[in-house]
Amino acid sequence: MARFSSLDSWRTQSLGVRILRLMLGGTWLYGGLQKASDAQFFNKASTGYIGAQITGFAKNSPISFILRHMISHATLAGWMILLGELAIGIAVLSGVALQAAIVAGASVSTILWLSVTWHVHPYFLGSDTAYLVMWIALFFLVRKEAGPRARKNPIPNLKDRREVMQMVGVGVTAVIAALAAGGLKKSIPVPKAGNKIVALSAFPVGSVMQYTAPDGNPAFLFRTNAGVFAYSATCTHQGCTVGYNPAGKTLDCPCHGSTFDPANGGAVLGGPAPAPLPKYSVAISGNAIVTA
Ligand code: FES
Repeated sequence: MARFSSLDSWRTQSLGVRILRLMLGGTWLYGGLQKASDAQFFNKASTGYIGAQITGFAKNSPISFILRHMISHATLAGWMILLGELAIGIAVLSGVALQAAIVAGASVSTILWLSVTWHVHPYFLGSDTAYLVMWIALFFLVRKEAGPRARKNPIPNLKDRREVMQMVGVGVTAVIAALAAGGLKKSIPVPKAGNKIVALSAFPVGSVMQYTAPDGNPAFLFRTNAGVFAYSATCTHQGCTVGYNPAGKTLDCPCHGSTFDPANGGAVLGGPAPAPLPKYSVAISGNAIVTA
C-alpha cells in the first residue's frame, strides 16, 4: 500500500481528499504569502501590526492568558505564524508529512477560532470553525485511505533520511516564499501634512465621504458642527473595509458585522472588533479640508 507522503498522493487519493487538500493547502499558502507581502504586518507604527492585532484579540479571548504573553514577542510570533502557515500549506499541497501537517493546520485553526473569530456571531460568519471542521474531516479521510502502515506511523520518521530531507525542503521552500513575497511589499507612503482632501464649499456640515489617507489606506471624512474628523476604514477585527450606513449613521463592517460610532471616537458599537477605528488627523485650512 502506498504511503501518502509524496506528490504521488494526488494520483492515488480520492477526489474528496484532493479537494480538501487543494482548498486548505492553497488557503494556508495564500495566508502566509499575504502576511509576508503586507507592509503593515511587521510595522509597529501601523494598525495592521501583528502586535496590535494580538493586543486587540487578547481583550476578549478565552486564551487571552497565552495571547498576553505573545504581545512582548509579537514580531517573533508574527514570523512563526507566517512561516508556519507557509510550511503547512506547502506540506499539504506536496503531501510531505501530510498527517502531521493536517494536525498542525487544525491547531492553527483552533487558535484562530479562540482568538480572532471567538466573538463572531452567528458562528457561521466566522471562517475558522469551518476550516477546523475541514481539517478534522481531511485527517480522518487521509488516515482511512493511507493504509495500515501510514496509520501506524502518522508522525514523520526522523530516522528516515528521505523523509527528513523532504521536511527540510518544505522548510526551505517556506523561507524562500516568505522572502520572495516580502520583496513585493509596497512601502508605506510617509504621511504629508497639508494635502488637500476636498474643498470646504463642496463638503458642507453633515457631509461624509470616503477618501484615501496619506498612508494609502481607505478612510472616512466627516464634517459636523463640531468640525472635521476622519477615521480609518479598515476594520480592527480582520481588516475588511467598513462602509458608511446613513440610516444608523454608523460605520459598518460587511465581514462579521462590527459597527462603529463615528460620533463617538469610532467606538465599537457591536460585533467582534476589539478596538475603535483609528483616527486620521485632518483640519480646515483656508477654503479646503487638508491632512494635518
Ligand atoms: S473584519 Fe470581522 S468584523 Fe470587520
